[in-house]
Amino acid sequence: MEVIEALKTRKSIRGFKKDPVPKATVQALLEAAIRTPSGMNTQPWEFVVASGPALDQIREECGRLFDAASFPTNDMLRKPYEGVYRQRQVDLAMEIFRLMGITREDKEARKKWMSRGFRLFDAPCEIVVCAEREMEFHLDMLGIGALCQSICLAALEYGLGTCIADQGIMYDQVWRKYAGIPDSKRLIAGISLGFPDPDFPANKLVTPREPVDKITTWLGF
Ligand SMILES: Cc1cc2nc3c(=O)[nH]c(=O)nc-3n(C[C@H](O)[C@H](O)[C@H](O)COP(=O)(O)O)c2cc1C
Repeated sequence: MEVIEALKTRKSIRGFKKDPVPKATVQALLEAAIRTPSGMNTQPWEFVVASGPALDQIREECGRLFDAASFPTNDMLRKPYEGVYRQRQVDLAMEIFRLMGITREDKEARKKWMSRGFRLFDAPCEIVVCAEREMEFHLDMLGIGALCQSICLAALEYGLGTCIADQGIMYDQVWRKYAGIPDSKRLIAGISLGFPDPDFPANKLVTPREPVDKITTWLGF
């Protein structure tokens, strides 16, 4: 797939077919994605890749913690958004709920939707990106952000869809337990991976963007 086409067609996929993603495919896309640049070539990333019964156990535990209103433990969590950012977040949720046929009043269905995120969207594979806690936060986060996008773009080449999601790693203690991740490492991003279910309503979502000219200062042209 052409790069520009990949950039323009990638979108978050939140409904997957049950088909497993072969280990060799994940391996190949990670091999490509680790060509991502990082500050001073520090390569501040490490992966946990889960599938099959191991992933099902993790999704069940995370889902149960969410259903029990257990407070998330991951210290990567952000402050609540404000202003225009909050508005965009609300617009996104409203659009997903509209596509899923979930009304504003239906608190139960909304909670079920949230719970689905904590259950990693029932994806057949999850990639968790971790980094040493001692790495320089801002510099290395840029590299890890770029790496996540590389994974999402590389996935398209294999017909796979992705959703980068905080929800999947908010209960980091579950991942730590199953994957033996020590406290010296942070869980930075979760990427759900699988073959997109074309009939899943939320997969139809194409999110809006501000026009380039509104967010760009051009100099010297
Ligand atoms: C760092 C990060 C965290 C995200 N966390 C979640 C999440 O927890 N749940 C979710 O459904 N989507 C999550 N997303 C997906 C965003 O909602 C999505 O990227 C955004 O709405 C733009 O839509 P698009 O990816 O379809 O272009 C996350 C994306 C990023 C980059």
